[in-house]
Amino acid sequence: MEIKLSNANPLKIKTHCLILSVGNQKKLTATTQVADSASGNYLSKILKQGDLAKTAGAVVMLHNVPELAAQRVLLVSTGSNESITPTDFEKMCRAVAQALSTPSIKDCVIGICGSDIEDKDLTWQSRTVAQALVEKTYSFDLHKSKKAPANHFDGKATLYIEDRKHNKALETGIKQGSAIANGMSLARDLGNLAANVCTPRYLGKQAKSLSNEFSSIKTDLLSEAQMKKLGMGALLSVSAGSAEPAQLICMEYKGGAKKSKPVVLVGKGVTFDTGGISIKSSAGMDEMKFDMCGAASVFGAMRAVAELKLPINVVGVVAAAENMPSGEATKPGDVVTSMSGQTIEVLNTDAEGRLVLCDALTYIDKYKPDVVIDIATLTGAVITALGNHTTGLMSNNDQLADDLYKAGTDSQDRCWRLPLWDEYHKQLNSNFADLANIGGPAAGSITAGCFLASFAKDYHWAHLDIAGVAWKKGAAKGSTGRPVPMLMQYLLNRCS
Ligand code: BES
Ligand code: MN
Ligand code: ZN
Repeated sequence: MEIKLSNANPLKIKTHCLILSVGNQKKLTATTQVADSASGNYLSKILKQGDLAKTAGAVVMLHNVPELAAQRVLLVSTGSNESITPTDFEKMCRAVAQALSTPSIKDCVIGICGSDIEDKDLTWQSRTVAQALVEKTYSFDLHKSKKAPANHFDGKATLYIEDRKHNKALETGIKQGSAIANGMSLARDLGNLAANVCTPRYLGKQAKSLSNEFSSIKTDLLSEAQMKKLGMGALLSVSAGSAEPAQLICMEYKGGAKKSKPVVLVGKGVTFDTGGISIKSSAGMDEMKFDMCGAASVFGAMRAVAELKLPINVVGVVAAAENMPSGEATKPGDVVTSMSGQTIEVLNTDAEGRLVLCDALTYIDKYKPDVVIDIATLTGAVITALGNHTTGLMSNNDQLADDLYKAGTDSQDRCWRLPLWDEYHKQLNSNFADLANIGGPAAGSITAGCFLASFAKDYHWAHLDIAGVAWKKGAAKGSTGRPVPMLMQYLLNRCS
């Protein structure tokens, strides 16, 4: 999609659709007011009829409005709050992208940036518009023999802003929004791919092709033999039952000063989770192809960082393995030794995410990280706690936790913190090893977080449990691309 800027009078532009916002109590926003006067109050008459609901993102499409050059005018409601909330603005953007999704609209002029939105500048506004438009173009048909015809807007969008002194801010936002949406789209593709295609080695190849596309990314792949030499007994215990070898995938992006310490992102890349010998029940087991969505979000963020050429250093590490039962699989009660030297009693082979992550968390110490964030579809329990709306956040550092919380709110990709207090750590005590890989039925997400914390003692670390948000079930089954927006917001905030 092509997204541009214009300072030209939007009432005079010949376009398939001009998009204008309507404020609280049907008060017209500045640009809309001008359009209304020009059209002989045509717009306000329509509004008086009550066709536009007050809820944010309600729309009404008008055709052939008098005196305007546009073929159509789309009025979008800003909601019933006195000033527009960020959430309402995002709803407006999604509604606009939806309303434009008709084959007859090939170009549009969007005049909704520049409104007063609670502490959100023009870069944020234009980013939100661009991200919504590009996100809407996503479809997944890599496994279909015939591609479905596109039913979304994919033409030329022009963002209107009256004063050209704001152009720079809007251009930045457009670039950010497109890059984030492109990163999400990569993450979604990887998540949606079938597990017989998207294997650990496939993810390795993805990393290679990312470094072919962006020379700023360097990729390093560790084989099972190399991991064995490093003593990664926990990670390798997960792939032991599978015909697919595990991969540790390391992607280094250098955009900052040589000595500037990197942000390290670590993704759970379990390309299929049967549960292993502690096998899962079969209903809905297909969804365990999404158990690499943490890894997918690392790929998505790396791609977006490289596209935006951010002036920071970022390392993306993916611990990729397939969790299968077989004669060679790890059994409940087996004890394995992690790279950290800590021994683990594998009481449940279905608690495998923490096993692949713990060795990755030890390995990445070599990057001398400033902060480490792991992203994982780690526990069903986080869905019990927070549902399918919110990512579970755990951290050993209050500042990092606050920064991620803020990034989540700023990007409408929210997380909520859970505690990692000592009491919970005790649930992982084992009679036979240094720690057990499960902590019993109570506080399952927290004890999983505590397990990881035992391997992340030497740096500031946060854990994002995305089991509830990484994909949708039912008719809209598919990967969401979350939490790429939160991660990107966090990284962008670090840049400014
Ligand atoms: N990948 C699952 C977590 C999961 C379950 C994500 C359902 C999304 C939906 C993870 O590997 C797992 O199986 N966790 C177990 C842990 C338990 C054995 C302590 C769980 O949540 O049941
Ligand atoms: Mn599992
Ligand atoms: Zn899993």
